[in-house]
Amino acid sequence: MITQESVGLRLNDISASGAPLSIVTVHFDPVAGKDLQGFLNQSPLVQLRGEIKGYLDEDDPVLEWLVERSPDICVVDFDGDRRLATHAAEIIHERLPLTAIFAFSSDMRSDYILEAMRCGCSEYLIKPSDREQFLEAVARVGARKKDKREQVNGELLTFVGAKGGCGVTMIATHLGAFLAKSCARRAVLIDLHPANGDGALYLGFTKFPYHFYELADSTERLDAELLQSFLLHHSSGLDLLPAPELNEPARAVEPEAILRTIEFIRLRYDFVLIDCPPGLSFQNTEVMRRSNQVYLVTVGEVPALRNLTRYLDYLSRVEFSRERIRVVLNRHFKRGAIPDEEIEKAIRHPIYWRVPNQYSQVIRAINGGDPTSAAGSEVARSVLDWADDVGRKSSETTGKKRANRGLLSRLGG
Ligand SMILES: Nc1ncnc2c1ncn2[C@@H]1O[C@H](COP(=O)(O)OP(=O)(O)OP(=O)(O)O)[C@@H](O)[C@H]1O
Ligand SMILES: [Mg+2]
Repeated sequence: MITQESVGLRLNDISASGAPLSIVTVHFDPVAGKDLQGFLNQSPLVQLRGEIKGYLDEDDPVLEWLVERSPDICVVDFDGDRRLATHAAEIIHERLPLTAIFAFSSDMRSDYILEAMRCGCSEYLIKPSDREQFLEAVARVGARKKDKREQVNGELLTFVGAKGGCGVTMIATHLGAFLAKSCARRAVLIDLHPANGDGALYLGFTKFPYHFYELADSTERLDAELLQSFLLHHSSGLDLLPAPELNEPARAVEPEAILRTIEFIRLRYDFVLIDCPPGLSFQNTEVMRRSNQVYLVTVGEVPALRNLTRYLDYLSRVEFSRERIRVVLNRHFKRGAIPDEEIEKAIRHPIYWRVPNQYSQVIRAINGGDPTSAAGSEVARSVLDWADDVGRKSSETTGKKRANRGLLSRLGG
């Protein structure tokens, strides 16, 4: 239920970034959070736009109200019921990806903090709250807002093999290169292998000074300039953040830093493609959770199909949305040993894309370091159709998102 809307500004001055940031609180306990309530009411940096009593879920009409307001920040009190708060934060994050979510809690247990971050919270504020801590968090949102205003999050496409050698790198490099060259989309490939990934080699780079994990290890100084200095630029237009080479294994980097780095990169590209090592590691599943599409790449052989079935079972057990999972059958034969219908029946999931088995074409593209060089080959034609499909759908959604934001801003959201 909405109890308050637009309490009005008590402004003598205006924040450095221009207009104050709009805030909505969710299940806020005004007694426990009276300090924060004071900042919200008095700070010229923020404007309290409303308070939602209780936690919201998908069917809650208040969600539409929130989407229309599209506040800069939602402060969710996690102390009432942590499960409901987590769910509410997830919904807000999904429906309002440009809204920053602050978790507010008196419990600082590290697994609680991690859980809040995982469901989309960018800040974890401790009760009783500290004015400086709160203003710093608001300032970070203000700084990011300027950047985000003109941008929409790029599509995150994650590729995981049912087992090693299924063709993940071949497919991700081809799709990325065609998205860049033939669909004129800004695309970057991140090779997430902890050592010795093949992404750079398949794109013709043999020597490079930096790798993705070093960038993720530098989040405190991450900005557009630092990112530029890490990127390799392929002639197709595809950018690449390579994996470390074997002689310099990656330092262990916190999954949070990896996710934050990916989110930062997403703001600068239409497509971010992630070449993951095989398996459902914690790191892979966290990246998958944030992805628009997860491509599970398999070949039509029993060991790969057995693993794929296990992946799909696991993902459905953890309630990962089925629409976001797409099965790609690589090295496809028209009359393969296991017919496609049997594969679909066994894995209980449709095959989204079939990439033909053409060893010599693939090897030529890999050796030449340019997936787009043999645009007439069967493999290239297949992936080009796929890039067209992905590129077209994405530009339709981006257009819609932009139109919605324009409308909401006219309504004062
Ligand atoms: N469609 C295809 N037709 C024929 N050969 C293919 C095809 N796709 C991949 N290959 C071959 O399979 C091998 C493995 O491909 P790739 O390196 O892309 O797999 P991967 O899943 O990235 O492996 P890893 O798990 O080691 O990262 C390569 O030698 C490549 O030439
Ligand atoms: Mg690979």
